[in-house]
Amino acid sequence: MQFDIKKIVRPNIETLKAYSSAKDEYTGEANVLLDANENSLGSPLTKWYNRYPDPYQKEVKEKIAYIKQIPASKIFLGNGSDECIDILFRTFCVPGQDNIIICPPTYPMYEVNANINNIEIKSAPLLSDYQLNVAHIEQLVDDHTKIIWICSPNNPTGNSLDRIDIETILNHFNGLVVVDEAYINFSKQKSFTSSLIDYPNLIVLQTLSKAWGLAGLRLGMCFASEAIVAYMNKVKAPYNINIVTQELALLALEEVGQVNDMIQHLVDMRIALAEVIQGMPHVEKVYPSDTNFLLVKIPKASQLYQYLLTQGIVVRDRSSLENCSDSLRITVGTEQENTQLVDAMAKWIELTFSND
Ligand SMILES: Cc1ncc(COP(=O)(O)O)c(C=O)c1O
Repeated sequence: MQFDIKKIVRPNIETLKAYSSAKDEYTGEANVLLDANENSLGSPLTKWYNRYPDPYQKEVKEKIAYIKQIPASKIFLGNGSDECIDILFRTFCVPGQDNIIICPPTYPMYEVNANINNIEIKSAPLLSDYQLNVAHIEQLVDDHTKIIWICSPNNPTGNSLDRIDIETILNHFNGLVVVDEAYINFSKQKSFTSSLIDYPNLIVLQTLSKAWGLAGLRLGMCFASEAIVAYMNKVKAPYNINIVTQELALLALEEVGQVNDMIQHLVDMRIALAEVIQGMPHVEKVYPSDTNFLLVKIPKASQLYQYLLTQGIVVRDRSSLENCSDSLRITVGTEQENTQLVDAMAKWIELTFSND
């Protein structure tokens, strides 16, 4: 493989003179801070939020580096992994010229960001077993293909994608391969972060929004080579992760043991919920899941979706997505929420199919 990041990055980003913030120019421990036009009197609400946050989130990265056993220099943090996705497009894809490859059904933000940036989208749909169509992906690659987006475990199908397939793509493709592992902690699969050392074109996305239970905090993690992280740092807003998020993330990251217990509890509930739903009459399929949600195929899925809304239960109707007809994506809730869902589904099935 002939991978050269300088050939991948947008030429204007390569030459970009990045913004240099006050905190970039002075990083020591002074007492009198008159360099950033902050309000030295502080807010009546909380005195210590009057200062800008650390632009490179060093403490948070050190903690993540320790937990993940990845050097802090290979970590980029975003305002959710959605911000990492946005920055990857703006760093590497030239509008009106480059293209990306997606494998639907998958997380829709890859497509949305491609459209925002006027990047052509090439599509290699997952096979009927929701695995990658590697031959199709390889056929689609051309000189302007910058990023192949792979989501594993995949949203909305819930399954992990075959590791060998992903490695084949990493080995054969000279552009970037993003493996979005938003749900990896619910899976027994090994994270691709351990392969960063082998593949300079690999980027792994993870998030505090799912297994860590902190979707409201907005902290996404991007793991990649130092060169890739350095380019992304050029493009990001100077203070993209606010102080509150950095403080709370540091606290949360202390609780690995507790989070692991919670993950196990969610996985146990997912397995139990899948069994109950699979046993219901007329349910065609509950797809295997390595996540905190289930994809359920059932006739008249959109009607069931509407019925659940009348019962105050919101799931996601994914029926309009490629290869996903009559399918609802259902997040595993609390024990009580899962029971409410199952009762409502049972009632709807009885009402809808009683004459069959
Ligand atoms: C596969 C995938 N990637 C990324 C995200 C976005 O995560 P974040 O909350 O970190 O922006 C989601 C959210 O649902 C997701 O499903």
